[in-house]
Amino acid sequence: MLHDNPPLIGVAMSKKHYTNSGVKENRSFSINIPTSDMVVVTDYCGLHSGSDVDKSKEFEIFYGDLETAPMINECGVNIECKLINIKEFKNTELFIGEIVEIYSDEIYVTDNKPDVKKFDSFICLMPNGPYWKIGEYLAEAYEVGTSYKPKS
Ligand SMILES: Cc1cc2nc3c(=O)[nH]c(=O)nc-3n(C[C@H](O)[C@H](O)[C@H](O)COP(=O)(O)O)c2cc1C
Repeated sequence: MLHDNPPLIGVAMSKKHYTNSGVKENRSFSINIPTSDMVVVTDYCGLHSGSDVDKSKEFEIFYGDLETAPMINECGVNIECKLINIKEFKNTELFIGEIVEIYSDEIYVTDNKPDVKKFDSFICLMPNGPYWKIGEYLAEAYEVGTSYKPKS
């Protein structure tokens, strides 16, 4: 997150990527969080450019309120964003988007919130991996630190 109200999120991508032109054209983008059983197709998407293959054929695609940001139905959570700004660096572009909606399948939700345990996702340790599943529940944020006794 870059900002809370309005909720802004940033995604940095190499200038060479095919995705960048689509984001600029549509003035929107989506962030799709895959479940761990999608690790093979996720890696495939990282290995091939949309300029060579149509990766959308690998998924069931849906559109939300903006009607321009394709999202992946198989993913546990989809974050739909309106493009607000682009910050240019030497080799990358940082796309700043305002979150307009978050979508999640009922089976991944507990008490109206995405349930990390249920959608069982993974992360990639940069720069070369490997992929690791997201682990166990640890503690309540904004709360667990209240019991800490400072040394001084
Ligand atoms: C494990 C993995 C991690 C990656 N991480 C990034 C990244 O953080 N930033 C980036 O710009 N590209 C990253 N890439 C490379 C792009 O996903 C890749 O170049 C892809 O083909 C770009 O697709 P596009 O041309 O359809 O946009 C990663 C690839 C893999 C396999």
